[in-house]
Amino acid sequence: MCGIVGIAGNQPVAERLVDALKRLEYRGYDSAGVATLVDGKLERCRAEGKLFNLEKKLSEEPLPGTLGIAHTRWATHGVPNETNAHPHFVDGVAVVHNGIIENFSELRDELTAEGAVFTTQTDTEVVAQLLARFRREGMDAKAAMLAMLNRITGAYALVVMFADDADHLYAGRFGPPLAIGYGRGEMFLGSDAIALSPFTNDISYLMDGDFAVIDRQGAEVTDYAGKPVKRQRQISQASAFVVDKGNHRHFMEKEIYEQPEVISHALSHYVDLADHRVKTSDNVIDFKALRGLAISACGTAYLAGLTAKYWFERYARLPVEIDVASEFRYREMPLSTDQAAFFISQSGETADTLASLRYCREAGLKIGAIVNVRESSIAREADAIFPIMAGPEIGVASTKAFTCQLAVLASLAVAAGKARGLIDEANEKTMVRHLAEMPRIMSAVLNRIQPQIEGLSRELSKFKDVLYLGRGTSYPLALEGALKLKEISYIHAEGYAAGELKHGPIALIDENMPVIVIAPHDRFFEKTVSNMQEVAARGGRIIFITDEKGAAASKLDTMATIVLPTVDEIIAPMVFSLPVQLLAYHTAVFMGTDVDQPRNLAKSVTVE
Ligand code: F6R
Repeated sequence: MCGIVGIAGNQPVAERLVDALKRLEYRGYDSAGVATLVDGKLERCRAEGKLFNLEKKLSEEPLPGTLGIAHTRWATHGVPNETNAHPHFVDGVAVVHNGIIENFSELRDELTAEGAVFTTQTDTEVVAQLLARFRREGMDAKAAMLAMLNRITGAYALVVMFADDADHLYAGRFGPPLAIGYGRGEMFLGSDAIALSPFTNDISYLMDGDFAVIDRQGAEVTDYAGKPVKRQRQISQASAFVVDKGNHRHFMEKEIYEQPEVISHALSHYVDLADHRVKTSDNVIDFKALRGLAISACGTAYLAGLTAKYWFERYARLPVEIDVASEFRYREMPLSTDQAAFFISQSGETADTLASLRYCREAGLKIGAIVNVRESSIAREADAIFPIMAGPEIGVASTKAFTCQLAVLASLAVAAGKARGLIDEANEKTMVRHLAEMPRIMSAVLNRIQPQIEGLSRELSKFKDVLYLGRGTSYPLALEGALKLKEISYIHAEGYAAGELKHGPIALIDENMPVIVIAPHDRFFEKTVSNMQEVAARGGRIIFITDEKGAAASKLDTMATIVLPTVDEIIAPMVFSLPVQLLAYHTAVFMGTDVDQPRNLAKSVTVE
């Protein structure tokens, strides 16, 4: 989603603003802009499309100035053209905004009735128009900001610059994240610590309902009534991060290949890899006392949660309620304090997931956050943080965050089973040994399957529709496979529980719709093979992702069979994720799509 940067600098800021925007590219965007204050006048440069368009324009018409704001826009209200790109200017006010102003049409009608002329289709322009009105009425910048923040509703992170104030930037947050960066004689604002990492790692985060004024020496934070609030400064870990693809073509490819390493890093936090025991250092969530678990998340993170439901119920006999966060938050689900609630989010900023968390907090549940960004809103509002330690995930399509979420959730399920007396010491050792073996097995799989998958992807890229099937924990993986393929290759794909085939999707089967069957040789194997037979009998073409035992046991003709090592059930979802991810990746590469930033998608979805 939109990215925001602001600098109150002691040297020209335009180039550094663009540099920071580059670090926010991973969030997804479709236009960008920069504004600076030059001799008491607001100047700006905006461009449709990618940042190199903006850089090109800036090289032709450089923007001087030591105070500036910048923005990458992910369109919500109004098409992604230059007019709608931020910063928006109205009578000496410049605004950048991430989020949605929900009462914008009511405010626009009110301001239009007073004579305001709107020049864009955006919701953001009402913020600039409101501020301009308050300034015309005689308010100073700070009073105008507070008046504006008290009028708008919705989700927003805002940074504002005024033509008659060369020393300050003003910011407000309600929903999407906004960080303050403390430099030497310079101050910064940014959507996240990654954006500010070249300038400073000394960060504080604004909370919902915070208003901030920064100058070159420091920051003042208050609530919307002007009452001071204190926001702790912390040293961000994002500073060491360099946006670099290494020798990979795309971040997504790099992130797929990083999985063995990051998973072993994540696992070492939750299990003793030498002794093969789970670590139970976090006792905020007492699994033994729980009657149930509620899990809420979006997209791929939801599918990690759906996989975990199988684990928690099977290994710990802990009933799990799970839903996508956009439904969970409005379902009015009966909750009780003997349940805990887990929220899974790579970014830790997903608006629906955060709202679900707050709903459960209100109901008095203990909250666990399974997040990648430890400084995120979801992490900060949780009772217990379970970091997935995947490192920055830049590709919009989640890969390593998904398998790290799974690794952490599998470890937690074993810990829960042990705490509830369902997993004895011998079983614990066996299960942890399987988890500990996983990075090595994943490395071997990655080294082996790529040539076959590349060839197969060329074939797959010729089709318009693809069906994915799986049972047990392979069912969420079938959904994930379909999600991954559709989001980066734009090929229509659906995932189904294999047993549901006969209840509808079988009507679609013909030679034009490949069916990707994910079936390790587990408890469900024979049943899935029966479903494959039903596909084959109707001329369907099967891509069979199985293990050595499964390949030996099946006699069916397939379009291709991808054979993985036979592994224990608890690690199969992570190991089988690899061919699923690579198939989507290489198909998208053949299709020539923008793999790391697929159209219309954002990495961090901070609006409903
Ligand atoms: C798909 C994908 C998305 C995210 C979803 C949740 O590849 O990445 O479906 O999983 O937007 O995002 P987080 O995990 O940041 O809450």
